This record gives sequence, C-alpha cells and structure tokens, in this order.
Amino acid sequence: MQTDFLVIGSGAAGLSFALKAAEHGRVTVVTKGELDECNTNYAQGGICSVTYAPDTFEKHIRDTLVCGAGKCDPAAVELVVRRAPELIRDLIAWGTRFDKTPDGRFELNREGGHSEHRILHYEDLTGAEIERALVASVRRHPNITLLERHYAVDLLTQHHLGEFVTRHTRGVTCFGAYVLDLMTNAIETVLAKFTVVAAGGCGNVYSTTTNPVVATGDGIAMCHRAKAITENMEYIQFHPTSLYNPGERPSFLITEAMRGFGAILRLQNGEEFMDKYHPMKSLAPRDVVARSIYREMQLHGQEFVYLDVTHKPADAIRSHFPNIYEKCLSIGIDITKDWIPVTPAAHYCCGGVKVSTDGETSIRRLYALGETSCTGLHGANRLASNSLIEAVVYADQAARHAVAQLDRVTIQEGIPDWNFEGTATAEEMLLVIQSKRELQQIMSNYVGIIRSNLYLKRAMRRLETLWHETEELYGKTTPNRELCELRNMITVAYLIIKQGRELKESVGCHYNTDYPPETAAE
Ligand code: FAD
Ligand code: SIN
Repeated sequence: MQTDFLVIGSGAAGLSFALKAAEHGRVTVVTKGELDECNTNYAQGGICSVTYAPDTFEKHIRDTLVCGAGKCDPAAVELVVRRAPELIRDLIAWGTRFDKTPDGRFELNREGGHSEHRILHYEDLTGAEIERALVASVRRHPNITLLERHYAVDLLTQHHLGEFVTRHTRGVTCFGAYVLDLMTNAIETVLAKFTVVAAGGCGNVYSTTTNPVVATGDGIAMCHRAKAITENMEYIQFHPTSLYNPGERPSFLITEAMRGFGAILRLQNGEEFMDKYHPMKSLAPRDVVARSIYREMQLHGQEFVYLDVTHKPADAIRSHFPNIYEKCLSIGIDITKDWIPVTPAAHYCCGGVKVSTDGETSIRRLYALGETSCTGLHGANRLASNSLIEAVVYADQAARHAVAQLDRVTIQEGIPDWNFEGTATAEEMLLVIQSKRELQQIMSNYVGIIRSNLYLKRAMRRLETLWHETEELYGKTTPNRELCELRNMITVAYLIIKQGRELKESVGCHYNTDYPPETAAE
C-alpha cells in the first residue's frame, strides 16, 4: 500500500496533522484500537492558550519555563505559546466546543503552576470533546483513509534495504512502516513519502497510571529502533491526584482544575500539609505536589491522602466537574460531602523522540508529534494543560514542513515484505502477561517518584533479564500486539532508566536521593 502521509496514532496530534495534510495529499491513519482510544480522549482539565488580559504571552512563557525547571527549550516555548490562539481557532472550526460564561466569554480554568486563569475547557471532559470533533472531521474527509485496529510494528528505513545506518548521523530516512492488521494478522508494508509517529505516551510501563491501555510507548520504541534520537525520558510526570480505587486500571484522574477551583489536599487525619512544601500550596507545580504527597504517604504508612472540595457550593461542584462527580458517586463518594481519596499515578512522558520546531526527528521524512515527541516545551516537568496545545501546534508545524516538500519526494521502491521465516504463532500468552506485570513492578518500585542510584541500577539489572527473555520469544514468534507492546515497553523502560542514570542531579520529575537538590551537580 502507498500513501503520501502515513500517520501512526489517532489522538489530537495524529488527527490534527491528518486534517492539515489531507488538504494537499493522501493521508492514511493507522491506529491500534478504535479511533478514540487514546490519551487525548481522557484529558480533563483543558487546553492552554492566552485568551484575555490580564494574561499575556510573557506570563504563559514564564510559567512554562519555571515549571520546566531550567530544562525547556525557549524556542519551543515561544512557538507553542504564541501560536496557541490560532490553533484553538482551528479546533473550534473543526467543531470543538469550549465552555463559556453567561456573557459569552470563554470560561478559563487555572491549574498548578499557572499564574493566571488560561485553560479553555469543556466541562471536565475537554479531551473527549476535542477528540469527538477531530474524529467527526477526519471521517468526513475524502483524502483520509482510516485503518482502525491496525498496529504499527516497525518503521521502514535503509536497514530494510540491507544498508547499515547509525543513530548519530542524519543519514537515516524513513519510508513508511510495517503494519499488522489485528483482524487478519497480516502484516502490510505501508510505503509513504512522509511518516508521522503520533502514538502517544507510555504510562503503562508503570503499575499505576492514568493512561489508557494503548499508551505503551510504541512510537518512542519504534523510533528508537529505527535509530532516531530520544531525550528527557527520565522526566516521567506523576499526576498527584488519581482516584484511589485499588484494582482499577487506568486510574481515574481527579483533575488539577479541582485544586484550581479551591480543593485542598489533606492527610487522612484532616491536616493540610502542602504549606510545608511550597508557597503555592495545593497549586504548586505538579512534581512538587506529587513528591509531597508521596513523602506524606511514606511518613504515615498510608496509601492515599484526601482531596477536599466540600467547602465549595454543591451546585458549582456538580456543574464544573460532572464527570468526576458521577464517577465518584458510582463508588459511593459524594464529592460535595465526602473527601476524595487520591494517590499519585504515572501520567505523562515529558521526554520522547527529539524533534525540531517543525516536528522533524533526526530521521529524514519522519516526524514525531504529541506525547511521543520531545519538543523541549516541557523541560523537566510539564506545565498542566500544555500537552494538548503542544500536540496541535506541532502537528501544524509538521504539516506545513512536509507539505512544502511533497512534490520533491518519491515513494521508495525495493522494500521487502515482512519476513515470517522461522516464526510461528505464539503457543501461549501467559508469559507475556507475566513479563508485563514484572516490568510494571520494576518501574514502580525502583523508577517511580523518588529514585536513587541503587534503585536505578537494580531496575536495569532486572530489566536485562526481561529483555533477553522477550527478545528470544520475539525472534521465534509471528508478531502479535501483546508481544510487540511488551517489547516496546521494555525499550521505553530501558530509555527511562538509562537516561535517568546519566543525569547526575535531581530536577523536575526526576528526583534521585543521591543528588538532593541543594547539592545537585551543575
Ligand atoms: P494520544 O492521544 O495518546 O494518541 C495516541 C494514539 O496512537 C492512540 O490512538 C493509540 O491507539 C495510537 N497508537 C499507539 N501505538 C500505536 C501503534 N503501535 N500502532 C497504531 N497506533 C498506535 N493534557 C492536557 O494538555 N490537558 C489535560 O487536561 C490533560 N488531561 C489528561 C488526563 C489524562 C487522564 C491523561 C491520561 C492525559 C491528560 N493530558 C492532558 C495529556 C494529554 O491528554 C496527552 O498528552 C495528549 O492527549 C497526547 O496526544 P497524542 O495525540 O500525542 O497521543
Ligand atoms: C488534569 O486535568 O489535571 C490533567 C491536566 C494535564 O495533564 O495537563
């Protein structure tokens, strides 16, 4: 199969790229589940954009830089903040609704680390609303082919032509991907002029995550195997407040907007504790709040703390947070009267595949967008609600960049089809499930909110065993989704641990007790 633009992933990044590129060529979107099975669909709090005074671009830039703890790329920050209003207009033109006040102005939320109210939202279901509008628009577009339940296994490069290529040169070019049809188990060679990896994040490498099951880091792992450069993988952001409801996966998020609305974190005995840790208390940057909760849980030997919004009017709580209200009620918690038990959960990958301001990776004709990418916007810690806007801004940048070259690029010939030789259908999948659980335990136990050199070393040792066993199995098995995901999760875990071990300081989301912040190396 041939296409101008192959898009892997159907969240905000992939679909908004598809809509832009489809004005100029044929687009094929592959996604491993239904179109709306993605992190985007779960986003609650909203999407950042400077909308009204007294907010300014400069304030949004400063908040992003402060939260990123000195590790942001200022060019990426400028780009996203200044282009945000334009991309919000695109989302609205595609049919996205945002809540408004009775006088017709956008109602703006505030979240941790923000100095102003600047978060556009639709109830507490912003991501689902954006995804709904995008899905409806791509389904209508005559130039877009949608392949649901299609799993991208690997990117095609010169490696598949038998040539030797290395990671640190600009010599690698991408020609498309091998895609597994999950209904027929056939592997299709999809050749493309440009390939876009918008395959989301990797929360599922941890035991507890807010991410849906599709977030297994496939895009990052695939790009790494193709020899793209990745960075900042150690900055895994833990959301401070996921609902404590043991056994539920993914963990249900209690949006940070609730703290922006006035909710207070309390210990199980009712005591407030955030004033001990940060002047912004419950609205401190996310890494600080997550670490503070973790410390208090350690100190008191408890598995959760509480979030208390009961001092706010019940009607306002229900109208601002209808989704959270209903969810909590379904497990017997009336948030207008009861405190909500919360605990941190793996939430967002601030690093990923390194890209330019055009979303281009270190591989030619290969773009990485959204959570798969590392644009430099987030630095060591993402400012709340800066992810959706990053996804759509960079999708637009990449579409412009690729479209400008479309006439000069041809489809690569001579790529062989998938070689099934020496492989057979898996006889049992239990080992894969067990290995996945082991991996999640390793990551949660040793590479979580607080790390140490010993923890990271131990994690790497355990991971090596899993890696050997999985590669052996992969070598003799016809690819299936579960095995490919496990392999990708191991690769992503390796990158998180390796890049974490290389960093000799504690900063943002990476906290290593061997380098406490006051003595951190420069
Ligand atoms: P996704 O939306 O995750 O899409 C990735 C797509 O790739 C999926 O369709 C997936 O099925 C597909 N895919 C993956 N691997 C493969 C493969 N091998 N083959 C084919 N398809 C594949 N950010 C904000 O800015 N504001 C918020 O309020 C907010 N709230 C959040 C709440 C929750 C609970 C979560 C989990 C995240 C939240 N985020 C928020 C983060 C934000 O939602 C994500 O970072 C963003 O949506 C990522 O978009 P994306 O398009 O990059 O990836
Ligand atoms: C939230 O609503 O708290 C999540 C926001 C985000 O992850 O940006």
